[in-house]
Amino acid sequence: MKLLQALNGEPVWPPPVWLMRQAGRYLPEYRATRAQAGDFIRLCLNPALATEVTLQPIRKFGFDAAILFSDILILPMALGQGLRFAEGEGPRLPPLQYSADLDPARAPAIYGPVMETVRRLRAELPPQTALIGFAGGPATVACYMLDGEGGGDFPRTRRLAYEQPGFVSDVLNLLTEATTAYLSAQIEAGADCVMLFESWAGIFPAPQFRELVIGPNKRITAALKAKHPGIKIIGFPRLAGLMLGEYAREAGMDAIGLDTVTDIENAIAACPPGTVFQGNLDPLLLKLGGKAMEEAVLKLLAKVKNRPHIFNLGHGITPDVPEANVARLMEIIRGA
Ligand code: CP3
Repeated sequence: MKLLQALNGEPVWPPPVWLMRQAGRYLPEYRATRAQAGDFIRLCLNPALATEVTLQPIRKFGFDAAILFSDILILPMALGQGLRFAEGEGPRLPPLQYSADLDPARAPAIYGPVMETVRRLRAELPPQTALIGFAGGPATVACYMLDGEGGGDFPRTRRLAYEQPGFVSDVLNLLTEATTAYLSAQIEAGADCVMLFESWAGIFPAPQFRELVIGPNKRITAALKAKHPGIKIIGFPRLAGLMLGEYAREAGMDAIGLDTVTDIENAIAACPPGTVFQGNLDPLLLKLGGKAMEEAVLKLLAKVKNRPHIFNLGHGITPDVPEANVARLMEIIRGA
């Protein structure tokens, strides 16, 4: 598997490629399967249909990795928090008031269907296609749990981090344990590697970034590696800025996902020698296509030549991306 070779630090050329949100609304077959499931959460918890939507982009574009179709908010739902997706609005949760309202003991039964999806996927995927399991990073998941919605501001979470640090650290500790168990179950079910999405890592000032992002991420990687020797883990501390180097040194990741704003040359300079990166084409270029996309892809490829690298976007594909641009992207990378 080319993805695992790159995660092992071996340069692979052309680089392995997959795209965040590669299964999604830009594909008509995804929209049809979601309609069949009824709604997004039902789709995540239906092993046959979740397997189908995971495989759709692999069949169509031949990516080097499939990512389990689910969502980072399935874990808080399994822990007992309400969750709904309002059409066109994103996720909504009743903002968490007490950490004791969460029940880690009941979670595995509720996320059981996700593990069945992982088993089916590993059995159905081509042997050269790696299966990526994932979870949200504890800080990012806590943002949604405490504020009840996304958007990127998370005012309650940021206020609680100062005013009720004990409550926030109880939630983070509980999430760190639950996330470790959740990822461990995915590995046991057949995931070849896992990724931790800390999509909102960049909203915290440095001391909180250390305590709420790096600390829990490090405990998760240490526990997973102790239990599953050799397992590869990708961390995505989005918008970490100048905290990226510290994250790369401390968090115990095998590869670092780069967001759109980061110049990979700066990331190389800031992180330990040999750090493997994943990313970071601007998702807007995949919508625009044409010359702008081609030039940017060739520039990025030139920067990662001779390095172990995983080609990806700096954030997820948007629903307005034309399929032809994804096909063209694959052609450019495979022809490199
Ligand atoms: O293809 C894949 O990448 C795998 C599946 C996947 C989804 N969400 C499916 C999804 C993964 C890995 C995620 C991660 C996720 N979910 C993150 C971290 C990555 C990131 O984007 O920063 C976050 C923050 C979430 C929470 C979430 N889920 C939001 C904010 C939304 C609404 C935004 C939107 O695009 O509508 C979702 C919904 C969601 N998750 C969709 C998909 C395909 C769209 C749901 C639909 O079909 O309507």
